Amino acid sequence: MKIKKAVIPAAGLGTRVLPASKAMPKEMLPIVDKPAIQYIVEEAARSGIEDILIILSRGKGVVADHFDRSPELEQHLLKGQKDAMYETVSEISKLANISYVRQVEMKGLGHAVLCAESFVGGEPFAVLYGDDVIIGEDPATAQLTRAYEAYGLGCAGIKEVSPEAILKYSSMKVAPLEGNWYKITDMIEKPAPDQIMSLFSILGRCVLPPEIFDILRDTPPGAGGELQLTDAMKTLARTKGMVGVDYTGKRYDMGNKLGILQASIEVGLNHPEVGEGLRAYLKELAKTL
Ligand code: UTP
Repeated sequence: MKIKKAVIPAAGLGTRVLPASKAMPKEMLPIVDKPAIQYIVEEAARSGIEDILIILSRGKGVVADHFDRSPELEQHLLKGQKDAMYETVSEISKLANISYVRQVEMKGLGHAVLCAESFVGGEPFAVLYGDDVIIGEDPATAQLTRAYEAYGLGCAGIKEVSPEAILKYSSMKVAPLEGNWYKITDMIEKPAPDQIMSLFSILGRCVLPPEIFDILRDTPPGAGGELQLTDAMKTLARTKGMVGVDYTGKRYDMGNKLGILQASIEVGLNHPEVGEGLRAYLKELAKTL
C-alpha cells in the first residue's frame, strides 16, 4: 500500500534552544534561507506524500502562515520583476495539501501523534519529527515507505550514534535483514548504560500502521513524564516486529544549538549563492582557531 499521508509534530516547547524558541517556533529557525520545517515538507513531497498534518501549539501559527499564499508579497515581487524569487515564494504554498491541528497540552511526541488519529483515518502514515532535517539525494521518508511496502511492518529510520549519545536517545535490538534494513524486535528510550541493546537509535522518521493509536492509548507516560512514541513503537516491535532503515542522508538536529550551527555551516557551504564566500571565510577563520 502506498503511503500518502504524513504527520509532522511541531508543537514542542523547544526548551533546549531557548531563548531563540520563546516566540519563534524552533521548527521555523532557518538553515541559511529556509525554515527547518520547509526542508521537512519538501522531503515529504519528494517522497510521494500528498497530505500532511502539522501538529502545532499556541504561538506557532507562523508555521501555517509560511505555507499559505502571500498575495501582497507575490504581487510586489512580480511588479519588481523579481521572477525567480516570486517562483520560490509562490511554490511554497503548492508543496502539498497541508492541514493543522493544535496539541493543547504538550504531553510528548506520542501524545502529539495521537492528535493525528482522525486525519490518518485507518491508513499507514509517515511521521517526520519537526526538528529533524535530513538532507540527501534519496529522501529519507521515501526510503522508509519502500521498506513498509516490502514488509508491511512499521518502519523506523535508524542511525548508529556514539555510546555517549545513545543515553539521550533510544537503543534498538536489531538483526540484519538485507542491505541497510534491519529487523527490530525491541527498543528502549533513554537507556541506562547496562540497558543498551545496540548503538542504533531512531532518528527523526518512522512509518506506522494505524494500530499505533490503540497502542498509544494503552501506553503509560514514560521518560520525563511524557507519552513517548518510542514506548508505543516498543510494543509494536515486541509483538509484530518493526523494520529499521539505516537511511542515507545527513541528519541535522534543529532541537539543539550545536545542531543548528552545523546545519547552517554544512548547508551554507553547498549553497549556490553563499557557498563560495562562506568557504573562503571559514578557511581564514580556521587559521585563527
Ligand atoms: P522534542 O522532544 O525534541 O521536542 O520532540 P521538545 O519537547 O520541543 O524539546 P525540548 O526538550 O523542550 O527542547 C521532537 C519533535 O516533536 C514535537 C517537537 O515540536 C519536535 O518537533 N513535539 C514534542 C510535539 O509536537 N509535542 C510534544 O508534546 C513534544
